[in-house]
Amino acid sequence: MIEISILPHLNAALNAIAGGVLTAGFIFIKTGNRRAHKISMILAMCVSGVFLISYVTLRAYAPIFEFQGQGAVRVFYYIMLISHVFLATAIVPLVIFSVLHAFKSRFAAHKRITRWTWPVWIYVSISGIGVYLMLYQFYPAAAG
Ligand code: HEM
Repeated sequence: MIEISILPHLNAALNAIAGGVLTAGFIFIKTGNRRAHKISMILAMCVSGVFLISYVTLRAYAPIFEFQGQGAVRVFYYIMLISHVFLATAIVPLVIFSVLHAFKSRFAAHKRITRWTWPVWIYVSISGIGVYLMLYQFYPAAAG
């Protein structure tokens, strides 16, 4: 049985892995390795899927901690958190359409949409780690 208290750390690790795999996938396609690109992006979706399950479990069983920092750092934290949540929602249809275009070999459309999908996804993954660090590591009192 997994302890609920380890889920924030697991989620941050999954975010980091997704970010790494997304970066690899980007480098692969830019260097012409389509097969490795495809595998990387499918892997990124699997990792993000596991993240989603873990995140929903965490939210169902653990309270939402309020950020304890004050002043400018608090404003920075909430801008990062709100943009993270908003874009994490927006990424779902972007990923679905990116993959549908790719699997139907509509690569012109795939390229058009992934101009948004890739940077937004990377931002979501990096800001997810940022939120974790600020809430659970830099201001650990907040997490109890
Ligand atoms: C959501 C997941 C995916 C993302 C974020 C993504 C992202 C990208 C990006 C950023 C590019 C480069 C576009 C450019 O050069 O302007 C690209 C190109 C490409 N992707 Fe994906 N990709 C994803 C999934 C896939 C999958 C599953 C496949 C294979 C079935 C695939 C096949 C390709 C191919 C063949 C190209 C080259 C298209 C061309 O240059 O004409 N991608 N993708």
